[in-house]
Amino acid sequence: MTITTARSAPAASKIVGVGVFSDKDRPAGLPSALLESRGFDAKLGKTMIVETSDGLRAVVGLGSSEDFTAQSLRKAGASFVRAARRHKTAAATLLADAVAVIDGLDQGAAAECLAEGFELGSYHFDTYKSKPSKLELTKITVAGSTSAAVKNGIATGQAIAAGQSLARTLVNEPGGTLTPVEMAKRVQTMAKDAGLSCKVMDLAAIKKARLGGLIGVNRGSTIQPRFVELTYAPPKYKGTIAFVGKGITFDAGGLSIKTGTGMMTMKCDMGGAAAVIGAMSALKEAGVKTRVRAYIPMTDNMLGGDATRPGDVLKIRNGKTIEVLNTDAEGRLVLADALSLASEAKPDAIIDLATLTGACMVALGPKIAGLMSNDDGFAASVASAADAAGERVWRLPLPDDYKSQFESPIADMKNIGTSHGGALTAGLILQEFVADGIPWVHLDIAGPAWTDAEDVENRKGGTGFGVRTLVALARDWE
Ligand code: BES
Ligand code: MN
Ligand code: ZN
Repeated sequence: MTITTARSAPAASKIVGVGVFSDKDRPAGLPSALLESRGFDAKLGKTMIVETSDGLRAVVGLGSSEDFTAQSLRKAGASFVRAARRHKTAAATLLADAVAVIDGLDQGAAAECLAEGFELGSYHFDTYKSKPSKLELTKITVAGSTSAAVKNGIATGQAIAAGQSLARTLVNEPGGTLTPVEMAKRVQTMAKDAGLSCKVMDLAAIKKARLGGLIGVNRGSTIQPRFVELTYAPPKYKGTIAFVGKGITFDAGGLSIKTGTGMMTMKCDMGGAAAVIGAMSALKEAGVKTRVRAYIPMTDNMLGGDATRPGDVLKIRNGKTIEVLNTDAEGRLVLADALSLASEAKPDAIIDLATLTGACMVALGPKIAGLMSNDDGFAASVASAADAAGERVWRLPLPDDYKSQFESPIADMKNIGTSHGGALTAGLILQEFVADGIPWVHLDIAGPAWTDAEDVENRKGGTGFGVRTLVALARDWE
């Protein structure tokens, strides 16, 4: 989609989006009585199309002016695109309408959110539809200001949203199509375009690197695993953050097989990897000044004739051993290798994203990620990045005394705890592979990586949850 700026809406625009606050007078030129009679309440995310003497208007609710922040424009932008989707060119005065009412609104930040909203609202995945859904809208003019801040904000917002769309598409691709081999190829292509260096390990290289967790999970598959490392290194960077993402391209559960229903959405089990990949693609455009390294283990979790058996013991990269009592607790096995490798490079902090446990969904529901950490300061940084990005996270504890749950009689640990508190035992197991002294956050995104419900910003399927948080974190890093 092309997004441009202009002082006022071009005459050729087929439809113009106008922002309306629920607690303020309607802007002049809108048929207030008509909107009233049709019950338009100007709630954030609500739209109504009306005809005026100047042409079509998409009236976009901005909610109450008291609750309004730059972030509100993300929802407003997405709802506008949905309303205007049948028209080729559109304009929107949403930014100007907000600026006119809200004192001190940061226009650059607001333009960024608005552009993100436009892009997110226009996302559709119809690779496998014989009749692709129609989205006519290809050009939006943001009317009101042509300042450099607004233009930069739009460019940045588009890049971040493109990263999120990439993540959504990677999740939406079927597990039989987006194999680890195919996924690694797509990452290589992205890395070239985004100015990242990219290293891909195949099975032989993975064996040489002694990534015993990844090898163990891959053992039931006829498709090779991959381990991908990406590096973003801006000139004169200060400090390094490591991103780690769970890349299980399909989780059948292994020999501890899932139910048919439990497997239906398991192509989403690389949602953490997808978020990391999407975020990496946007770092340059977002002006990130920190070095960022990404570590992405990729395999499916199948049950072939030589699959890892319950009771088998795997040796992880850092030398620790794990007795696999449930092959469906595979995420922690591949992440153990990735966290060990990430730790070896001694970054200033590590953040991992993983669709790790059903237990986290039980605790926090479908829209909120669980945040676990060994460091209060870093946990707070991630929470505030998530807040700025409009992604919801909630901190959960890592209780030391729960570690006894995964003691093994024959190895250093088992890969499962007892039946309750599964999100926490998973987090505690991951912690065993983060080197002492490195601040680390684990985000369990099992809930929010996927949605079965449509809303303003999301369609059914992959959400790209985490992309915006990761970019915000890297941008604000000191
Ligand atoms: N990928 C699943 C977790 C998951 C479940 C993600 C639902 C998204 C939606 C993970 O690999 C898994 O199977 N976890 C098990 C762990 C258990 C065996 C200790 C779980 O949560 O049941
Ligand atoms: Mn599993
Ligand atoms: Zn899994």
